Amino acid sequence: MASPRAPNILITGTPATGKTSMAQLIAQELQLKHIEVGKVIKEERFYTSFDEELDTRIIEEDDEDRLLDFLEPKMMEGGVVVDYHSCEFFPERWFQIVVVLRTSTEVLFERLSGRGYGDAKRDENMEAEIIGVVEEEARSSYGEDVVVCRENNNLDEMAATIDFVRELYEQKSNHQ
Ligand SMILES: Nc1ncnc2c1ncn2[C@@H]1O[C@H](COP(=O)(O)OP(=O)(O)O)[C@@H](O)[C@H]1O
Ligand SMILES: [Mg+2]
Repeated sequence: MASPRAPNILITGTPATGKTSMAQLIAQELQLKHIEVGKVIKEERFYTSFDEELDTRIIEEDDEDRLLDFLEPKMMEGGVVVDYHSCEFFPERWFQIVVVLRTSTEVLFERLSGRGYGDAKRDENMEAEIIGVVEEEARSSYGEDVVVCRENNNLDEMAATIDFVRELYEQKSNHQ
């Protein structure tokens, strides 16, 4: 299978850990393209139905296949920052850097409440963050030289992560 012409970055984490904000800033600072996968799923209708009770889109295997086919050429071009709350169904070869954002319980509670999530959806996400579901998923799906885990509670931490990723991206670009 082919590898990307330039490194790609995946920003992942529980909803409201700050993935989209971080991906936007990294793309801007490093002059990369940003793909917000949740938005692509909505716009291109890569989902089968909407579960009112769970307040979530149901993505079947066929939707996932169509999404991966849609993304493949963009990923092969390289220089893309992708953000999504899950990471295990992407091909491993797509990403040379995987950043898992982590947020403290108090901060995440505030952000999820501010987003207008119902209690059940908020609590489900809080629990996933406390257990570290996405971090575990990333560590079992990508190599240890690819995954980095970063706290993202405030703007200082965000700025530090952008600097960290910039340096890592330059290193990986030189080794390609
Ligand atoms: N490092 C940060 N410091 C303070 N607020 C942040 C930080 N990162 C994100 N936020 C805020 O948290 C909320 C969720 O961020 P967002 O990027 O939409 O998260 P996600 O894409 O992971 O769901 C937004 O209101 C955003 O402005
Ligand atoms: Mg987002």
